[in-house]
Amino acid sequence: MTDVFDTIDAAPLDREAERILRLNDRGGYTVPTEGLYPYQWNWDSAFAGLGFAAFDIDRAWQEIETLFNGQWDNGMLPHILFHRSDPGYFPGPEVWGTEDALGRGACTVPSSGISQPPVVAALAWRIYQADPEAGRARLAALYPRLVSYYRWVMASRAESGAVAISHPWEAGRDNAPDWDEAMAGIDPVGVAPYTRRDTGHVDARMRPTQADYDRYIWLVQFGRDRRWDETAIAAESPFRVADPTMTFTALRSARDLRRAAELLGEDTGEIDGWITRLEEGAARLWNAEIGAYDALNLRTGNFAGSVSNASFLCWWAGLEDRRSLDTLRRVMAAARFGIPSQDLSATSFDPLRYWRGPVWAIMNYMAANGMAEQGLTEEAARIRGDTARLIVENGFAEYFSPEDGTPAGGATFTWTAAVWLAWASPTADTGRGDI
Ligand code: DGY
Repeated sequence: MTDVFDTIDAAPLDREAERILRLNDRGGYTVPTEGLYPYQWNWDSAFAGLGFAAFDIDRAWQEIETLFNGQWDNGMLPHILFHRSDPGYFPGPEVWGTEDALGRGACTVPSSGISQPPVVAALAWRIYQADPEAGRARLAALYPRLVSYYRWVMASRAESGAVAISHPWEAGRDNAPDWDEAMAGIDPVGVAPYTRRDTGHVDARMRPTQADYDRYIWLVQFGRDRRWDETAIAAESPFRVADPTMTFTALRSARDLRRAAELLGEDTGEIDGWITRLEEGAARLWNAEIGAYDALNLRTGNFAGSVSNASFLCWWAGLEDRRSLDTLRRVMAAARFGIPSQDLSATSFDPLRYWRGPVWAIMNYMAANGMAEQGLTEEAARIRGDTARLIVENGFAEYFSPEDGTPAGGATFTWTAAVWLAWASPTADTGRGDI
């Protein structure tokens, strides 16, 4: 254990993290943070569940169950559920126009028309492990819905083996340099006039640019015009990028879903097929030129050339692959706090602009747990220590500068609090003594 953990007075921070989860609780679901994100987000919620599991196991399961109340008939689990309207956010349900979307079926929860990194099975499995006795029946009830979600991921996004996104918001890493080429290929003509709300809550320097936003909204209109028909979107959209975040989180989740299947006595054949295909897809994302896994533009066949924090989720996905270890060490050596969402030596690096440089606690959680599982204990320990220091020194911010830890984005952030409770706090039951 690194020194940093000996010096931390954990109790007040543990209490504050619990307070944040309760503060952001809207009754059965948790908003990422008041104001900036006033609805239920898919992967934020899965992490909220992980955080609740540290002190309220029933509430942890409830978070995941509420998320699945918004699942479409075709299995898709939307990236935002608009449980109640909030004019402080744009684009709201009227912009997404999913009421008559193909595949939505009888689901009555208003939602967006895209998904998000499919971490939910992996984190549901972790919640189960936190209290198997309380979790078995909940996991069993959820299991068919989980399977139907991953079946949708494989059928609708995994045409290249790797999992693709149809919108940058789907990757969760909205403005990562990974999509720069694909975004430049969009001419955002015909975007209806709109007012951004995010920059009313947070400094514009920490958010995507206006050029990004025009294209985000153009892509929403593109999907809406096709009634969110996946086949039409896959065939016609100029934006289709195979993404390491989606691929590695899907692969990790498929492995954990398989563990759940074994526990519950379910057949594992279909999941085994997914694992094989995802492993083949992950291999396609290896970019030898940068020594890391990379985003692949399926329209041009070009790699992005982006050494991002998503590149290092490969170990969490269960890949026994040391090829990017030198790259990780180089990236970490240049950063005071790791893992930066973009390599500091890249021309696109920007220490405070969202996914173009800042450190994110959830990415650290996934990456470092994967490293620990694969025996990279020194790297895992540094990342856990950095995450703890960022929170101790700067609070539960949405993200942090890798150069000096400056807190950025929203404050009192749900998933930062959750990662503290589940892993970064010295009192956390990480499930492993080695990190
Ligand atoms: C936002 O509004 O910034 C979100 O990231 C979209 O999901």
